Amino acid sequence: MTGTDTVAAIRAAVAGATPDIRAGLPGRREQAGTENPSGERRLAADEYADELLAERLGAVDGVGTYASEEREAVVDTGEGYAVAVDPLDGSSNLKPNNVMGTIVGVYDADLPASGRDLVAAGYVLYGPITTMAFAHEGSVTEYLIENGEPTVLNGDVTLPDDPTVYGFGGRVPDWPADVAAYVDEVESALKLRYGGAMIGDVNQVLTYGGVFAYPALQSAPEGKLRLQFECNPVGYVIECAGGRSSDGSGSVLDVDPTALHQRTPVYLGNEGLIDRLEAALD
Ligand code: AHG
Ligand code: MN
Ligand code: MN
Ligand code: MN
Repeated sequence: MTGTDTVAAIRAAVAGATPDIRAGLPGRREQAGTENPSGERRLAADEYADELLAERLGAVDGVGTYASEEREAVVDTGEGYAVAVDPLDGSSNLKPNNVMGTIVGVYDADLPASGRDLVAAGYVLYGPITTMAFAHEGSVTEYLIENGEPTVLNGDVTLPDDPTVYGFGGRVPDWPADVAAYVDEVESALKLRYGGAMIGDVNQVLTYGGVFAYPALQSAPEGKLRLQFECNPVGYVIECAGGRSSDGSGSVLDVDPTALHQRTPVYLGNEGLIDRLEAALD
């Protein structure tokens, strides 16, 4: 299989898993009684989605390793790309029946890897309908997924020029002063949209333009979100859609990968807004 065939097979495997993931959610809202490598409580739904995606992606020719936010170590499955997955992003939204996602990054390198080693990345959004945004070869395609089958909704997704929404994670008193000052500045022009699942909040930015961040916090200078499983893949999608990503000083894709579960502050959105943010954080 060529690299392009493998990427298409990975996209199809993730799309094909979505009906089973959605079907498994109602009965798995409870906590699993275990913690993930980031020290966060897992839901039974997190474990279920992780097992299912490991099986489906591990079976794809050309996938050499599977790694997940929910697993300490990488799983070797042969030769080929390293696939890094956040099986359920925003799983704390399950109980209040809010949106969640699945994130996948396809790296042509051993993990932990730089975002520059991504050959493709995408995310599924479990909303009123199931959609997937998938970036490959410099552009982003949005798919509707029905019964595990993707059909193209938008063949070339780009951020709108006029941004309208923003969403910043963490607690306001825990924001460093420069982050708080930046939010004060943008909130006069943008509408607050923060739902607590990165993928739901980022998809609003991709659709309406604006900025999403899980910033550096006074209590957690590295922020909350994981470089390999959340920030690199979603940063890659936003950059392929004509936007910018940042860790506060430069593209998230240039953050030095030192550990599989390392966290990084992340800011994503329209170029002008991210340029302004980096100036504000100097
Ligand atoms: P996950 O459910 O995969 O652990 O991710 C949750 C993350 C991310 O989706 C979201 O942006 C962030 O946690 C929300 O954090 P807060 O609850 O602190 O707002
Ligand atoms: Mn989690
Ligand atoms: Mn997540
Ligand atoms: Mn998750």
